Amino acid sequence: MLLQVLMFLCFIFTLIYILKKRNYWRSRGITEVEGSLWKFTFGDRSLPEYYKEIYDKYEDEQIGVYLGSIPSLMLKNLDDIQAVMAGDFQSFYKRGLTVNKSDILGDNILFIDEYPRWKLLRTKLTPVFTSLRLKTMFLSIEKCAKDFVDLIESDETLMKKPFDMLYTFTAASIGAAVFGIDIGGKEAMESPFVIMAWKALTPSFSTNLKFLTSNAFPWLYKTLQLRFFSEHEEFFIGAVKSVFEARRKAEKRNDFIDLCLELQKNGTMKDPTTEYELEPTDEVLAAQAFFFFIAGADTTANALHFSLLELAGHPTILAKVHDNIDEVFKDGKTAISYEDMDKLQYLDMVVNEAMRKYPPIGQLQRICTRNTELPSNKLKIEKDTGIVIPIYAIHRDEKLFPNPEVCDPERFSPQNVQKMHNYSFMAFGGGNRICIGMRFARLQLKACLAWLLRKYTLEEKVYRPERFERSSFSLRDTNATYKLIRRNNN
Ligand code: HEM
Ligand SMILES: *[C@@H]1O[C@H](CO)[C@@H](O)[C@H](O)[C@H]1NC(C)=O
Ligand SMILES: *[C@@H]1O[C@H](CO)[C@@H](O)[C@H](O)[C@H]1NC(C)=O
Ligand SMILES: *[C@@H]1O[C@H](CO)[C@@H](O)[C@H](O)[C@H]1NC(C)=O
Ligand SMILES: *[C@@H]1O[C@H](CO)[C@@H](O)[C@H](O)[C@H]1NC(C)=O
Repeated sequence: MLLQVLMFLCFIFTLIYILKKRNYWRSRGITEVEGSLWKFTFGDRSLPEYYKEIYDKYEDEQIGVYLGSIPSLMLKNLDDIQAVMAGDFQSFYKRGLTVNKSDILGDNILFIDEYPRWKLLRTKLTPVFTSLRLKTMFLSIEKCAKDFVDLIESDETLMKKPFDMLYTFTAASIGAAVFGIDIGGKEAMESPFVIMAWKALTPSFSTNLKFLTSNAFPWLYKTLQLRFFSEHEEFFIGAVKSVFEARRKAEKRNDFIDLCLELQKNGTMKDPTTEYELEPTDEVLAAQAFFFFIAGADTTANALHFSLLELAGHPTILAKVHDNIDEVFKDGKTAISYEDMDKLQYLDMVVNEAMRKYPPIGQLQRICTRNTELPSNKLKIEKDTGIVIPIYAIHRDEKLFPNPEVCDPERFSPQNVQKMHNYSFMAFGGGNRICIGMRFARLQLKACLAWLLRKYTLEEKVYRPERFERSSFSLRDTNATYKLIRRNNN
């Protein structure tokens, strides 16, 4: 019932707004396209794909679109993009995803748009991903990857749904790394965190509509008092509290939980430049732990899935990946170390190329917070204007990546990376709000693929998706399959 009411209200208000605001860009001499968000909400593809259509259709480097009621600009020029992401960050720090303040779990670094609060939390959480802590968390990641492959071996029916299999791994592995709980084998895979992550993330019509409302009609979202994550609140905050409790008495491990406990011991957090203060309560920290799941499980599972889909279609690349992995596992090694990750350089290139062709996050958006202008043509951008950065379209632009449909990991060889523009490959975003978990994600991707492809290879099968699932940010194709075959070398 609520859904129908929402749909109806959205429809009416979009109509009113489009009529009122149309020509915003045209009157400024900018090409204008209407209705892409609308097409998405009632269409059957992902929003990044609709953006790619627009990107490819018009030559212009700036194209006017609407995010519901908000006049927005899609950017192609990489210098403009760099200004939005980094150079002129002070004018573009907002993502513009409205979350209700009482949505405790929604109040995390990923969603926060209040500058001093975001900056304080970002500064306080960045140390989670220092080499020392990553090295500690890698022990959990590696163990989870190994257990995961053992589990597949013992129950090969899991392979029938490869995406589900990978998602279960990423959610369990994040759970283990964040909470420092040693749960092995099947139990880790059936942990309540995995189930929660599934529920919180699987795109549905209702979450898409909530997204549309929060994005395009913030006041409507507030009036209806929608909350994204409320159903997970009790379970998750409870879980975090009990982990904190147990770990206050236990030995130090140098992981995320230890950092949280240290923050609590130090008392009020304060940013010396903005003077902003925040109490590190269990709730505040639980929300930060929640971002690992929101931001990390689905993205990493998709990156793994697309890497395997591409490898299945490219036997020569697959053979080189096998060589790279076998070299690391040589002499009958039964574990891989944090240091070994650097040796998996070819695997790294393959994963990058898969994320270029299929960026798990296919578009970014920003909201302008003060009047400014773009560097390429001095176009004035007014406060509250939206910016769309169409990552998927950029990654498939032949001017930036010649023969964009071809899978060629050599694009990411160290020599070639040097020649790339900093903002042409944006699988992890860029600038001040770049993915905070990038290094963590790479460890997870490589550890999982190393263990999996040590024991299995892939039956040859070319992957040519016609469309992706209807999702507002991500590219997903969870129905796609490939066949894992036991290798006979070990
Ligand atoms: C392959 C896996 C991943 C991909 C492709 C990915 C991609 C991204 C992208 C594109 C952004 C930038 C969004 C924007 O600029 O609007 C981002 C931000 C973020 N990511 Fe990731 N991510 C991945 C894994 C992870 C993991 C494992 C974590 C947590 C440990 C994580 C935590 C975050 C957070 C907290 C932000 C927001 C940072 C901020 O606003 O300051 N991500 N991610
Ligand atoms: C958030 O939601 C709660 C109830 O879920 C409501 O009482 C409150 O007014 C909302 N706050 C805002 C700012 O919309
Ligand atoms: C806690 O305070 C100590 C002493 O001021 C400082 O060295 C440490 O970095 C702080 N810890 C965190 C996590 O901020
Ligand atoms: C690109 O990134 C490198 C390394 O982070 C930096 O030194 C360089 O200044 C950047 N280039 C531009 C044009 O921003
Ligand atoms: C995936 O498969 C399910 C069940 O067969 C189907 O309902 C759904 O439409 C498929 N999704 C896509 C994107 O093809």
